[in-house]
Amino acid sequence: MSESNPIKSAVDKVVDAVTDHGHAPAAEIPGVPNSAPPALEQPTEPGEPLPPKPDQTGPDTFSPTGQPTGADRAATAQGGAYLTTAQGVRLRDTDHSLKAGPRGPVLLQDHHLREKVMHFDHERIPERVVHARGAGAHGVFRSYGTAANITRAAFLAEKAETPVFVRFSTVLGSRGSADTVRDTRGFATKFYTSEGVFDLVANNIPVFFIQDGIKFPDVIHAGKPHPDREIPQAQSAHDTFWDFVSLHTEATHHTLWNMSDRGIPRSYRMMEGFGVHTFRLVNAAGETTLVKFHWKPKLGVHSLTWEEAQMIAGVDPDYHRRDLADAIEAGAYPQWELGVQVFPDNPEQMFEGIDLLDPTKIVPEELAPVQPIGLLELNRNPSNFFAETEQVAFHVGHLVPGIDVTDDPLLAARLFSYLDTQLTRLGGPNFPQLPINRPHAPVNDMQRDGYHQTAVHRGVAPYKPNSLDGGCPFHAGLGEGAFVEVPTEVSGRKVREAPATYADHFSQPRLFWLSLSPTEKEHLIDAFTFELGKCYEQAVKERQLRVLANVDPVLCREVAQGLGLPAPEPSVPLADAAPSPALSQLGREWPADGRIIGIVADESCDLGVVDAVRQAVLAGGMVPLLVAPKGGMLGTMPVQRTFLTARSVEFDALLLAGAPLPGRDAYGARDAKAGNRAPDEPVDPRVVLMVMEAYRHAKAIGGWGTAARVLAQAGVPEQAPGVVVGEDGEQVLRGTLGLLSLHRVWDRFPPAADVA
Ligand code: HEM
Repeated sequence: MSESNPIKSAVDKVVDAVTDHGHAPAAEIPGVPNSAPPALEQPTEPGEPLPPKPDQTGPDTFSPTGQPTGADRAATAQGGAYLTTAQGVRLRDTDHSLKAGPRGPVLLQDHHLREKVMHFDHERIPERVVHARGAGAHGVFRSYGTAANITRAAFLAEKAETPVFVRFSTVLGSRGSADTVRDTRGFATKFYTSEGVFDLVANNIPVFFIQDGIKFPDVIHAGKPHPDREIPQAQSAHDTFWDFVSLHTEATHHTLWNMSDRGIPRSYRMMEGFGVHTFRLVNAAGETTLVKFHWKPKLGVHSLTWEEAQMIAGVDPDYHRRDLADAIEAGAYPQWELGVQVFPDNPEQMFEGIDLLDPTKIVPEELAPVQPIGLLELNRNPSNFFAETEQVAFHVGHLVPGIDVTDDPLLAARLFSYLDTQLTRLGGPNFPQLPINRPHAPVNDMQRDGYHQTAVHRGVAPYKPNSLDGGCPFHAGLGEGAFVEVPTEVSGRKVREAPATYADHFSQPRLFWLSLSPTEKEHLIDAFTFELGKCYEQAVKERQLRVLANVDPVLCREVAQGLGLPAPEPSVPLADAAPSPALSQLGREWPADGRIIGIVADESCDLGVVDAVRQAVLAGGMVPLLVAPKGGMLGTMPVQRTFLTARSVEFDALLLAGAPLPGRDAYGARDAKAGNRAPDEPVDPRVVLMVMEAYRHAKAIGGWGTAARVLAQAGVPEQAPGVVVGEDGEQVLRGTLGLLSLHRVWDRFPPAADVA
């Protein structure tokens, strides 16, 4: 398309208005498996392994003891054109075992067979005990320097740039579970700072289920599948989970967040992150400040609908993983601002009556604004999932000078747990030497030996004090960047008790409920009703209703109604909580970078317009997927989905370039989605289904040409909110993409009057 094309230039303007990525647009649709297409026939000439795709890199190259090696990032990948044994010996054949005659027994002397199968037999390592399912990316953190007055951490100094690796995850599911289940999401960031590694091991929910880490095994046992049948996978909609949280009301706040739209994010790129605990920062003068860490996504906080989340779990269980990788490959680099809420470090460690050591409490942003201190950008995909995303090991105790912990009892258990778990998962104490975990600062720790030791240590005296190694390594003084724990007074009786300030379990859940928009409240009611409706035990449901009665009578009444149970009265006075508007994720406009736009067309459509629209979507840092009756090419355009393979849930918005005729395979015996099509049906029924689903998932729908026929067939009024019908593609694209800045068209479905 030439620049003078009027459709394209008008569309470009629209795209500029709704996107804000500032990066080169994607050249093509992301997601191809390799950096070059394969030949049709099996290659006959040897060649070096293909390089990774341009968006993919391995970890930076540092030695096991934190020295830059200067090696190419590919240096740790396989090399050479010929197949070898693990010892580098070239092999002529790997398809046949060594046998006594072609039909004879396999010989014990087949060292290649033995080595190959031995390694395969041990390829799996234990998955993480929690957060097993995840996806990671490399990036950079650029500090604004605005925190330099409260911390001496070098990576938070002005203009400091620090490489990072981030891993997002769900909590409950196994490694192969679906991405879109209702759950808390992990948001763990490893900062490879010049002073050693700092890990911010955060979640997308600012509060936790429990106030004391000694209960972590309990809450996880309750949330994981039942021990007898090992079901259900990756979800909390079952009896043991609700049994635990209904008996354990400090979980109520977290549970409300989990049942809200935050539990089903649209994308990892559209989640907030929270360090949860209060941390203590120390500046160069030794002055201390208490802070809570927040990640604020530049794309805003957005969610799936619950039906959509469930459908995606089947249609594309890798949805979040794919979304992150595709966005980075397409150049729509996700960004988050790191911010801190700052509190004076007073002896009580309280702020406005809120106990800062209680991880089930937030401090509303209206009381303590989140102050931006730097920008995180994810811009490189891993080149090997196992080596990077699976072997990365986070730990809340990976701290750098200037950042210290507080006495939050949840944090204390974490400080023990994260190191301990790696001994099993990563097979010994040397996991910091795995390439993805290596510090970018010199390591001289006097640790020696152990399984999988990859450093070759020098010297004879790994102990202190010594004279044989010249006294090395030396202690660092304060001026030499030493980590020094903040001296704090400790006193008290040794007890197994919670402080009185931890006793209020309902006023903050109520604050959260009151802060939501009516649409979000409807979703919360729906989620509680769904989850409790999946429980078998009546007592569990009734007990949880008693909990909800202490949060809000409308919430309790509506959920009780759905369960067919009476709504109980509250057992404590309802808290007089002031709403915090910052907690609602609706009502603001955001860029639409990396969104997926389905463009439905067939030969009967004006393909010139389709191509212009497609190019404009690409140029805007979004991904257009062309959906057509069959694969191959539609005119000059490659088809990404067919009516058989497409499902509405893959798209953030749907564009109809006309009314596609029924495809050759549009009958129920071939494709159940087509149902029992009447012989004279004018539109492919799979397209009608797509529109119906997109409509009820509150997505923007645009159509030009004869598209109105599809809407009529789907029962979608042309005047409905978020439906843009026009004569030409340019006008429709403008209207449809404009709607994406609000993410969904919630106006389409007004909430019940008494919930509003
Ligand atoms: C505020 C509370 C908590 C937050 C925000 C949190 C966050 C996370 C995150 C993000 C991960 C995934 C790390 C990764 O991507 O590799 C994780 C893993 C894990 N968490 Fe937590 N967690 C919390 C509480 C706890 C507690 C209380 C314990 C134990 C007492 C615990 C034990 C673990 C363990 C054992 C893993 C697996 C680590 C691995 O195998 O690499 N977590 N947590």
